[in-house]
Amino acid sequence: MRLASFRRPNSVALAFLVAGAAWFVLGTLYGLLTSIQFISPEFFNNIPWLVFSRIRPSHVNTVIYGFVVGTLIGGGIYYVPVLLRTRLWSEPLGWFSFLLRTAVVLSGPATFSFGHSQGREYAEYIWIADLALLGAVLTLLLDAVMTLFNRQSSILYVSTWYFIGTFLWTSAVYPIGNVMWHPATGAETGLLDSIFLWFYGHDLVGLILTPLAVGGALYVVPYITNTPLYSHTLSLIGFWTLII
Ligand code: HEM
Repeated sequence: MRLASFRRPNSVALAFLVAGAAWFVLGTLYGLLTSIQFISPEFFNNIPWLVFSRIRPSHVNTVIYGFVVGTLIGGGIYYVPVLLRTRLWSEPLGWFSFLLRTAVVLSGPATFSFGHSQGREYAEYIWIADLALLGAVLTLLLDAVMTLFNRQSSILYVSTWYFIGTFLWTSAVYPIGNVMWHPATGAETGLLDSIFLWFYGHDLVGLILTPLAVGGALYVVPYITNTPLYSHTLSLIGFWTLII
């Protein structure tokens, strides 16, 4: 790939969407392998990297972080500049974030299959992958915020709020929920750890997946129905209510 390709408008958005489709195939294949063991628990006997406890997290992490979050980011990186009537501030920075995320999603099956996992549901990635994911979140946040500063549109449509907000709070929610100050375990002990873990588990659904999906829907639905949003105020009440 020539260097100029990394500067092409919308190339990062496309990369996230295409990679998301690939993660969907790999992730649901892992889902199939996992479900086979419900019917026939002995099916993969003596194949260590296919035991249930190793392929279940490979399925869950690949579909969530690779497919669901990846494609929602791809959509957002496309519609945020459109709504702000500008271009993504830096396509190469977006690519950097994309490559970091790709390495993280790949690290899931690559490490879990050999028993390297932090063993906390939805927070299984090992510390170095957590660090790379945090780097990907921060670079994407910088790219989105700089795009916001370069905007030509005076109105901030609610989808932009959702997209940028997601990366703002993920940069705090992810390291806290993954207890990143304990690199070896990625965990606290006992009851305290369940508070940290499910602070993260619920925020993954409520403060990462939900705002990305709602932001995308509030862009796509008016677009395909060719009708403006019923109420901008109501959409902002929805945004602040979610945060509160
Ligand atoms: C869009 C595609 C998919 C997504 C987003 C997805 C997501 C998830 C999530 C979040 C879990 C964890 C649920 C929990 O912990 O309660 C899970 C578990 C699971 N999924 Fe999927 N999944 C998808 C497709 C599939 C497919 C196609 C299959 C099978 C062919 C499958 C089989 C399984 C199995 C067997 C489990 C483990 C259930 C358990 O341990 O009780 N998934 N999936």
